[in-house]
Amino acid sequence: MRRALVAANWKMNASVAAIDAFVRAWQQPSSDVDVVFCPPLGYLDRLGSAFAGDVHLGVQDVGVEAKGAFTGEHSAEMAADLGAAYCIVGHSERRAMHGEDDAVVAGKFRAALRAGLMPVLCVGETLAERRAGDAKETVLRQLDAVLNDSGAAPFADAAVAYEPVWAIGTGVTASPEQAAEMHATIRQRLAAEDADVATAVRIVYGGSVKAANALALFAQVDIDGGLVGGASLDPHEFAAICAAAGAGQ
Ligand code: PGA
Repeated sequence: MRRALVAANWKMNASVAAIDAFVRAWQQPSSDVDVVFCPPLGYLDRLGSAFAGDVHLGVQDVGVEAKGAFTGEHSAEMAADLGAAYCIVGHSERRAMHGEDDAVVAGKFRAALRAGLMPVLCVGETLAERRAGDAKETVLRQLDAVLNDSGAAPFADAAVAYEPVWAIGTGVTASPEQAAEMHATIRQRLAAEDADVATAVRIVYGGSVKAANALALFAQVDIDGGLVGGASLDPHEFAAICAAAGAGQ
């Protein structure tokens, strides 16, 4: 049985005051769910020490290399050193705004593994790709780039986040059926490489997840939790999403 995973992607939103207020209001909903907070890197320590609850820390990105002359970057090793256990890799905002192609994303996935972080590999099609009937092809291309680079075995200790680009921050959520179909496609692709890995890997959905739509998504057999942006900034809303993940398993 896969444990549910719900990760908060705070993107570039945080302050000491906001974190302290969030933690004061936070009530851990269930022990059956791995709850991960991914604040901007510099706030990891503040968040980690403020939480009394059983939460995990993660980062939103890592560099490919372990150290060196890469101004503005942080490595996976540094994230681990600061207490992170998870790492989002290949978020569509990184792909679109920072020019990260499939090869760079594969390198970052490898970097996360090297440092002992659990990668959360984001894949997802744009609206134009979905309208053109290319959604599965896009998602499988993004997945294959990492599979070809790292092999299937590491996915047993990784997660995949299906995040249709058209659903991120738009208020438009993929229907449970649309999401379930893509999750099954991803799991089948992994099963073609290694059946045990496909059974173990957690595939979470991201894109305008809210308390109101979470349970319908998480109740789908291949949806093992969520990657949550905007709604994760509200402690009550996010706790309700985490509770839905526990209930949906
Ligand atoms: P959203 O973001 O929940 O605000 O749509 C999800 C994400 O970008 O991971």
